[in-house]
This record gives sequence, structure tokens and C-alpha cells, in this order.
Amino acid sequence: MRVAVSTGGGDAPGLNAVIRAVVLGSLNRGWEVLGIRRGFGGLLGDARVVEMNRDAVRGITHRGGTILGTTNRGNPFRWPTLLTDGTWVEEDRSPELISTFGALGIDALVAVGGDGTLRIVRALCERGLPIVGVPKTIDNDVAGTDYTFGFDTAVQTATEALDKLHSTAESHERVMVVEVMGRTAGWIALTAGLAGGADVILLPEIPFDIDKVCNKVREREAMGRHFSIVVAAEGATPRDGESVFQDGAAPGGDARLGGIGARVADAIAVRTGKETRSITLGHLQRGGSPTTRDRLLGLRFGAAAVRAVATKNFGVMIALDGVDMKEISLDAVEGEPRLVSLDSETLLAAREIGVTLGD
Ligand code: F6P
Repeated sequence: MRVAVSTGGGDAPGLNAVIRAVVLGSLNRGWEVLGIRRGFGGLLGDARVVEMNRDAVRGITHRGGTILGTTNRGNPFRWPTLLTDGTWVEEDRSPELISTFGALGIDALVAVGGDGTLRIVRALCERGLPIVGVPKTIDNDVAGTDYTFGFDTAVQTATEALDKLHSTAESHERVMVVEVMGRTAGWIALTAGLAGGADVILLPEIPFDIDKVCNKVREREAMGRHFSIVVAAEGATPRDGESVFQDGAAPGGDARLGGIGARVADAIAVRTGKETRSITLGHLQRGGSPTTRDRLLGLRFGAAAVRAVATKNFGVMIALDGVDMKEISLDAVEGEPRLVSLDSETLLAAREIGVTLGD
């Protein structure tokens, strides 16, 4: 067997653990392993394909990022190409990818990625490629799996930031608004916000009323608590407004959310007269050494993918279901992302301890 492994989409702590498990699990079965660099780019001449031996994966479990490189602009069905006149066009390069796959003698691919990558995997499987998908994202929003690796590390980073911001907020008697990642899902905001003692948590799942946010700041003021911490998910939207995006999405890439934190901070300052500051944690949440939980999850996802390859169960993705790793249909990623449920127990806990959710 010749097995290949690739990582696509935004990086997430724990990717190297998956790679290590795929490589060692395969080598220990007597198989050969190739690493496809930069998402699917390595199959389209945009990056290299490298042999993966034991040395290639030595001592990488604790390292952030991915030793194979990645891109979130690497859709082979809509490959961005720069023309000589400076304009970009999208090309379907999947036929070339499929023929390179065959030419390299690859018997199976373990493709690690978020829902974008997994949708590509599904389409390539429909065209006959033998692929097993492994879900990853710090956003924790891939449908079909209870958790993705990378999320725990991102939450840890955000929680530590909130701990640090508390002291400066209290010293200056300010409102600090902290914008966290997560796309259209509020998992990072809710989890880090609750663990980090935020007074207000704004989630994409619950459009917020800025008056409710300001009332919380005023209530705290009246109780002698002259500072407040607001966590805003990048996808949070005001009740009467829309999501805020950054300028300049790259060709072939998705529109980038970002900027709601600063808007909320400005609105609080104007309405309450409090001094406010906003901070966007951004890609700090994607970096750093994975937590123990993410290392273990990564290793388990990788090992489970190799088991699927061993039984030639292709066209599936690995999913965490309770405490078990399962092989499920890739159909799961065709629908909506997995969002925070409005009746979730964690959300209930936030409400019960007095966190304002803006509704
Ligand atoms: O999906 C992971 C994620 O970090 C999102 O939380 C965020 O919206 C997006 O990727 C940022 O993407 P980029 O790396 O292209 O800025």
C-alpha cells in the first residue's frame, strides 16, 4: 500500500499529531507513506510530494502548525490562477489532480481539513479517489463530530488572554471587548468567555441588542464593579445589523470575518461614557503547542483514519461520537456547520451565573 497524507484549510494545533499517527500507523503496517505539501497543491505542481519516514515525524506531536504546510485557497475545482493582465480566474484542475494521484501510485489518501476541505474530499471520492477525511478546525463547527482537535488549544489561549485582560481592565476601570475567532459558530466565544469570567458573551447564534450589553456595564458600575469584560465572536451580529467583514478577501479564499469587537467597543463608549478598548486575538488562537487533549485527539483521529484505510472504507470521515472514533458518511459536511445549540447546557450555565448574552 502507498498511503498519502495532506493537510488543508486553516492550520489548527494538533495537525502534526494526526500526521504522526497516520505515518507511524501506516509504516507499522508495512505500507509506504507520502506527504502532500500545501493542501492539494502538491498534486497540482504547486508544492512537493515528499516521502514520510519515521524521521520525518520524530518529535512533532507537541508542535503547532503542520509540517506539511497548508492553504485555505486550495480548492482544485476552483483553483485561483493569476492571468498576465493581473486578473484572477478560477479553473477546475481536478482532472489533473486525479491523474497525478494515479501517476504517483497512491492507493489511499488521508486528507485532514475543515468543512471546505472535506467537501472537496467528498467530490473527489465521487470521482473515484480513495480518500478518508479527518476533520480539523479551531472553530469546532464541523458537522458530524462532537469535537475537532485545535479547539481546546484555541480556547486555552483565549481564556489565558481573558485572565490577563481582567487586571488591566480593573486597574483602569475600563470595558475590554475581546474578539475571538470561530466563523459562524460561537464555540470559542462561549467556552473561553465562560471559563475566563466574561460579563458579556456575544455569539453568532444569538443576535445581540447593544442596549442589553450596555445595561450590563451600567449594572456592574452600580454594584461598584467599574470594569467589564465583553467577549465577541467574530461572527456575532447586532439584532438590527449584519456580520462585519474585513476588506480584501484573497482570490480563491473566503470572505474574512472581523471587526465586530471594535464596533461593539465604540458603541459601549458612546452609550455608557465608559472608557473602552477592543482587542482582536486573531491568529494567536491558531498557534502554539497543542494542549494534551488536542494531541490525543489528533493522534486518535490519525490512527482511526489508518484503520479506515486498512479496511478500504473510503469516502468517509472520522468523527468523535461521545468517547468513540467512528467512520461516518461525508454527507455530514454538505449541510450547515455545527453551531451552539440554543438549549445547550453550557449556554444555560452562562445565563444562570448572570452572563449577559445580549438577548
Ligand atoms: O476556520 C479557522 C479560522 O481561524 C476562523 O476562525 C477564521 O474566521 C478564519 O479561519 C481565518 O482565516 P485566515 O487564516 O484566512 O485569516
